[in-house]
Amino acid sequence: MMQRAVFSRGALLAQNTAAALESSLAPRSAPLLMRLDRSMSSLTIPPPAALLRPLEVPNRYLFGPGPSNVPPRVLAAGGRPIIGHLHPEMYEIMNDIKKGIQYIFQTENNMTISMSGSGHAAMECAVFNTVEPGESVLVAVNGIWGERVAEIAERMGANVHRMVKTPGQLFSNTEIEQAMAKHKPVLFFLTHGESSAGLCHPMDGIGDICQKHNCLFLVDTVASMGAAPIFMDSQKIDILYTGSQKALNSPPGTAPISFNERACDKMFNRKTKPVSYLLDMTHLSNYWGCDGQTVRAYHHTGPVSGFFSLRESLAILAEKGLEESWRQHKELAAYLYKGLEDLGLTLFIRDKDLRLPSVTTIAIPKGYNWRELLVYMMKNHNMEMTGGLGPSIGMVMRIGLMGYNCKKSNADMALHALADALKNCKKSKV
Ligand SMILES: Cc1ncc(COP(=O)(O)O)c(C=O)c1O
Repeated sequence: MMQRAVFSRGALLAQNTAAALESSLAPRSAPLLMRLDRSMSSLTIPPPAALLRPLEVPNRYLFGPGPSNVPPRVLAAGGRPIIGHLHPEMYEIMNDIKKGIQYIFQTENNMTISMSGSGHAAMECAVFNTVEPGESVLVAVNGIWGERVAEIAERMGANVHRMVKTPGQLFSNTEIEQAMAKHKPVLFFLTHGESSAGLCHPMDGIGDICQKHNCLFLVDTVASMGAAPIFMDSQKIDILYTGSQKALNSPPGTAPISFNERACDKMFNRKTKPVSYLLDMTHLSNYWGCDGQTVRAYHHTGPVSGFFSLRESLAILAEKGLEESWRQHKELAAYLYKGLEDLGLTLFIRDKDLRLPSVTTIAIPKGYNWRELLVYMMKNHNMEMTGGLGPSIGMVMRIGLMGYNCKKSNADMALHALADALKNCKKSKV
């Protein structure tokens, strides 16, 4: 019944389109219409019924590790009319984005852009452009993100060396230096905010070690940017990237990245071309007006609406001030820790100074099935929290309160939902 109604609506649409075409083209284009009729009648796949229903998207509390809820102002920015990706107004918006990224990264690097893609695009861009096949790469793995970068580097033919720790553990500067001396990497990767484990890794001194060993220092701040302090220039980080959808509060799909002079020297003096055309910084630097050329050539069509949103979220952070944003995340996280402990839960990262303020990890409460708890909260509270990821699956549950969601009322709601789930989910037999 439903199916028939849908088809008749589709048929009506097709008729209207044909009628409109007919009146605009007749009588000169009769043969064209005949061809069009024939090609339309030869369709074997009907319009999908699902697409003839209106789009439905629920409102949810996104209190997991991201994406996070997006403020109305950012949503509205993304809904502005499309302009050409090579129009002068778009260049101006891209220039504003570049300045916003320089501010949140605390860098003066000219080579600062946003990827047209998610955090993974930035990850691949960093590795593909600065490493050539056969070169040595050192990766700190203490959660999923190090492992992901190691795999990316292996896929492009790098000689990858992993330093592996259990999720949430730290690497000392001595350990890093010893591994660097042994493997002589051209690139060292470390995650600042390890969202799979809830760790915020200290950064001080590592940049100096990298410089001493003539190695580039690559840092992932997808989960920490805007929520925890990081200083690209003064911490001597050579390549830094983040994602739009966490504390920055944009929709997913854009990813700021910056390269300093050392990184530019390496990536623009390579013998081979990077394996990806889309992620080639020679082209991207021109597209973003970073290469000193007066003309920006077409390389790819950037996500115009995504850039509008990104600009707006950077504007919100600029208005608030980075230090205030860090303070708010830290304060709210402390409030959440207390509430969780009052519920009898144990925080996964014991040292509170090493906890990632944006994503809090709790040890799975003994006797509970973590999946049941999560499903209960989604069903009864319309709220997303998540389990672990990669090596932390089965070890932790994750609560993310970041950017727009960084509010005491949200922490109270999350704690209430958790308390309710703990009360109502039967303890499993394990
Ligand atoms: C620390 C970290 N790095 C990288 C990523 C990957 O980002 P994306 O999912 O936007 O590709 C994430 C996503 O959760 C992350 O938390």
